[in-house]
Amino acid sequence: MINNQIYRQGFVLRVNPFLKHLAQAHFLTQPMAQFTGLRLSAVDQGRETGVNVAGVGARDPDVVLERSFPSPFGFLKATLSCEQIPRSAGRKTLNIMLIFLAVIVLMGLFAIYQSTRSIFELSERRSEFVSSVTHELKTPLTNIRMYIEMLEQGIARTAEREQEYYRILDSEGARLSRLINNVLELSKLEQKQRHIDLQPGNFEDVIREVQTVMAEKIKQEGYVLTAETRIVGPFRYDREVMLQVLINLIENSMKFGKSAPRREIGIRTRQAKDGVKISVSDTGPGIPRQDLKKVFEDFYRVENSLTRTTRGTGIGLALVKKFVRLMGGSVAAANNEGPGCTITITLPGQS
Ligand SMILES: Nc1ncnc2c1ncn2[C@@H]1O[C@H](COP(=O)(O)OP(=O)(O)OP(=O)(O)O)[C@@H](O)[C@H]1O
Ligand SMILES: [Mg+2]
Repeated sequence: MINNQIYRQGFVLRVNPFLKHLAQAHFLTQPMAQFTGLRLSAVDQGRETGVNVAGVGARDPDVVLERSFPSPFGFLKATLSCEQIPRSAGRKTLNIMLIFLAVIVLMGLFAIYQSTRSIFELSERRSEFVSSVTHELKTPLTNIRMYIEMLEQGIARTAEREQEYYRILDSEGARLSRLINNVLELSKLEQKQRHIDLQPGNFEDVIREVQTVMAEKIKQEGYVLTAETRIVGPFRYDREVMLQVLINLIENSMKFGKSAPRREIGIRTRQAKDGVKISVSDTGPGIPRQDLKKVFEDFYRVENSLTRTTRGTGIGLALVKKFVRLMGGSVAAANNEGPGCTITITLPGQS
């Protein structure tokens, strides 16, 4: 290179105009020229001359790219620099899409985690259920055998004692048959073999029948069962199913409310906008807030001293929910303002 001119293969190249031309023709028209700087130079025998700068110069560049060229432009060197790539509208959209994608991926992962967890929980609960049903079947059977033997051997010396043994036999037998009935109903429902017969009827009759069926046990346990029935519009239900539902709810109230100072259970019916509401409330310990929904799951029993000291398999409320759904309604549990809880069933009214 002599006097800023390069002599190659019979051509004379004036360095500065040549570099300027290169920059203008090939760089300044590029969108990247708005935020990058280009330094073109000609290098000859280690000496760098004819420096040219185009685009936006970067004083403290974050990114620097250097490039040399193949023959016959081996003497050329280009250095591209930029401080920061500016945020463009497209980049903003891309970022939003990335966030959106990340949220979808996270939601997917969470759903997978939840379903795996519930599968594990359900299988754990199923095996707990099998062992508790076995236990629940064995206990009344052992009691029945024991009391029959005692009666046979004449251990009950007085007539009152004998009556007492018969009463225990009766209640253990009833418990056994209710448990077997619940298990059978659950399996029929699972296999979709349970058909229901929805009929309009006088619901007060159903309540009266429940009161009669439960009267003896309620009296023995020292409870008071009251019924408050307001006039409700016509609605359809399966009589047998409603009896089972109410008996399960009353049994729960009696089973879990033994240590309550007041032993009161109330059945109420009333008309609401979304249908007919039938509720069973008690004055017992209530249900922990976080379990109000879970108690309707199959085999679910609240983890507390109450369930450790009472017998049960966790199918009563699961059955209630399945039955109510079959009748086209819904069921929910809530704690009372005072002591106890209320289970409310809503059945569609007939227009
Ligand atoms: N009236 C109530 N008061 C307090 N806790 C209740 C009441 N009813 C239900 N629960 C809670 O909800 C759980 C589920 O009730 P559910 O009737 O399904 O099972 P269970 O009564 O324990 O067993 P099963 O009904 O099969 O004999 C109970 O274990 C208990 O922890
Ligand atoms: Mg129960």
